Amino acid sequence: MKVRVLHDYEALSLAAAGEVAAAVRERPDAVLLLPTGSTPLGMYRRLVEMHRRSGLSFSRTTFFNLDEYLGLPPDHPASYRTYMLKNLYSLIDADPDRIHFPDGTAPDPEAACERYETAIREAGGADLCVLGIGRNGHIGFNEPGAPFDSRTRVVRLAESTRRVNASDFPSGRVPERAITAGMATIFESRRILLLASGADKARAVAAAVEGPVSETVPASILQRHPDATLLLDQEAASGLA
Ligand code: F6R
Repeated sequence: MKVRVLHDYEALSLAAAGEVAAAVRERPDAVLLLPTGSTPLGMYRRLVEMHRRSGLSFSRTTFFNLDEYLGLPPDHPASYRTYMLKNLYSLIDADPDRIHFPDGTAPDPEAACERYETAIREAGGADLCVLGIGRNGHIGFNEPGAPFDSRTRVVRLAESTRRVNASDFPSGRVPERAITAGMATIFESRRILLLASGADKARAVAAAVEGPVSETVPASILQRHPDATLLLDQEAASGLA
């Protein structure tokens, strides 16, 4: 596991976008597994700029999202589909047929999870997975305790995660469950980039990097990955020895 500390959020976003752009330039038909949340917004903004200014093309790239709330209509303002369309897919030349989301409204969510897992496998697995990290060390919606051998499945969100995400739900009704790519699904990505910004991530980052590899800190699994890089700003790195 490599750790790169950047000066601030802007530098972190630029470095992250550079990594994604390099992967797509090297392999235009790359398969990407991508996060939502506040952290990757700067990276997405930079990728859109690169598309507009330097012709970076995503027309052959395949996109999978890490997670989606269960039971939220796809066009709900807080759905992860809405987030990705708004912040990335509608702003680049992505092929709609190559954009995939977990189906949060499927009548049979378990079957939808299996279909999603199969779709990732049939695409050849992810060449690059970009992750954020929760204050409790979660990756995707794999909360503490998620088995390392888990696959795409329905999960219950930690109360702390629901509180943090509550600002996206003016109604106050934050979904209790979500579909997430599993720990093993994520781990099988050929390359993993985890982004963390801000002091409120410092403890989780320190536990993931310097603590034992343990299911109680899901991000600690990255210590075992052959090609994982953490991109941190100085505040997120402030808990490291
Ligand atoms: C979201 C996801 C989550 C977030 C994490 C950090 O798709 O997979 O694991 O990456 O909750 O969220 P932010 O970036 O909002 O702090």
